[in-house]
Amino acid sequence: MKILVTGARGMLAHDLIPILREEHEVIAPAKEDLDITKRASIYEVVKKTLPDLIVNCAAYTQVDKAEEEREKAFLVNGIGVQNLALVSQDRGIPLCHISTDYVFDGTKAAAYTPFDNTNPINAYGESKLAGEKYIEWITNKFYIVRTSWLYGRAGNNFVSTILKLAKERQELEVVEDQKGSPTSTLSLSRGINELIDSGAFGIYHFTDDTDGGISWYDFAKEIVRLSGCKTGVVPTTSDRFPRPAKRPSNSVLDISLFSAVTGFSPVQWKEALKECLDQASP
Ligand SMILES: NC(=O)c1ccc[n+]([C@@H]2O[C@H](COP(=O)([O-])OP(=O)(O)OC[C@H]3O[C@@H](n4cnc5c(N)ncnc54)[C@H](OP(=O)(O)O)[C@@H]3O)[C@@H](O)[C@H]2O)c1
Repeated sequence: MKILVTGARGMLAHDLIPILREEHEVIAPAKEDLDITKRASIYEVVKKTLPDLIVNCAAYTQVDKAEEEREKAFLVNGIGVQNLALVSQDRGIPLCHISTDYVFDGTKAAAYTPFDNTNPINAYGESKLAGEKYIEWITNKFYIVRTSWLYGRAGNNFVSTILKLAKERQELEVVEDQKGSPTSTLSLSRGINELIDSGAFGIYHFTDDTDGGISWYDFAKEIVRLSGCKTGVVPTTSDRFPRPAKRPSNSVLDISLFSAVTGFSPVQWKEALKECLDQASP
């Protein structure tokens, strides 16, 4: 297949592009060459490159900043995705889009399935849900892959932050009252690579395997342990660290549908984290 990847300089795209290139031809323009908020720009690239599939890695991803930059978040995550959906439907090109656990409010006790009701509790989640809705309304050939707690070798994320802080401090306080599943960009890229061959359009959940979810505290403890730092990690609660955007207290995603459709099972989260840290080390 010839695959057009948007947002090519982002964290996920950094790992996705080489994995897709093992089997496919990949066109990966940077934001300057393909701005998804400009429909004409998408048409131009599509006309020139004639892709068989579009994978959208472009997004506004600053969860806290989105509270004050709502319009900007909606422009990229809502209107930008609407543009991609319109071009995708018009040209008959399937669209694979990445979404988030933050479309849920976190009140469910168990893991969220793709059939659960969405109810975002922050502006970023609302903007991502807008993108999902546009795709559902406009196109009939789409994969929406919701993922959570994404980290990778490129870009700032929870893992890079904890690694940095662990070098600077003797002790880190990390919240224990939010449950979710970390996902390595390498794992997600491999998962996307399997899904796009399936032709089984729909909404899917994909994360690394946590067997019911872990807390940010659990995640931080493992990052510090694998880094070899002697920094202490102590559990705390979210009210000790108020942030502009509310987070769902449970955003564990049920990945069974993804595995059933693709036959691909994600690895255990500690294994995925180790792979990422091993590859990131010089
Ligand atoms: N990170 C997470 O924890 C997480 C969790 C769940 C789901 N997700 C989803 O996973 C996907 C990938 O996330 P990521 O962490 O790889 O994000 P990222 O590193 O922020 O990458 C997004 C890329 O999109 C680019 N971009 C922004 N506006 C654009 C536009 N108008 N046209 C074209 N490109 C544009 C950004 O460029 P600039 O940086 O120059 O603006 C950036 O290079 C996103 O859909 C995100 O919502 C992420």
